[in-house]
Amino acid sequence: MKSYIKNLALLFIVVVTAILVFIYSGWYQIGADTRHNKLTYWALETLRDHSVARAASEIQRPADLESSARLLRGGPDYNEMCVSCHLAPGKSSTDFTKGLYPKPPDLTRKPLKMLNAKQLAQRRFWIIKHGIKASAMPSWAPNHDDERIWDMVAFIDRLPELTIEQYQVLTERGPGSSNHHH
Ligand code: HEC
Repeated sequence: MKSYIKNLALLFIVVVTAILVFIYSGWYQIGADTRHNKLTYWALETLRDHSVARAASEIQRPADLESSARLLRGGPDYNEMCVSCHLAPGKSSTDFTKGLYPKPPDLTRKPLKMLNAKQLAQRRFWIIKHGIKASAMPSWAPNHDDERIWDMVAFIDRLPELTIEQYQVLTERGPGSSNHHH
């Protein structure tokens, strides 16, 4: 029994030392142009999806999410703050979408149907509000209240259906709609 504990302690020390050597060695490739291996990629994506799903599960989707008022308020914000990373009809790449890793998802495409409408709204609201650590997705909470974030969620929901012309109309900032609307 004693030697069993001794061996376990020894194994623990060896593992911790190996991890420290790796961290301090500089062998890890931190560049955005070096891709993760498949296992790391899977682990990070799974970690992200489950973390967001748990944190967002209690969020209440507003009843008027599909209203045109929200769509019209969300459009200009999207165009000013998000388009450089998440694209628009007729715009298929930018320096950000080419150079960032993880690559920002193209929000003009319909999402894969793994989530229902409620889960998708919760996920999008949560990610816009809190951001994603160690990726280029910022938290927008510091300068935008929840209502304003829901307006952007409403806009993103419709984005895959918009033509270039509709996008232009919906993202134009009318006089007086510059900042707060609630
Ligand atoms: C500088 C680039 C950048 C900007 C600007 C940006 N994002 Fe993102 N966003 C990202 C990246 C990168 C991810 C993916 C992060 C990941 O999966 O680890 C992401 C993820 C998302 C997602 C999650 C999509 C999904 O379901 O997987 C949403 C929604 C989103 N962003 C909305 C927005 C909105 C709305 C804005 C503007 C207010 C915005 N983003 C601005 C880079 C950006």
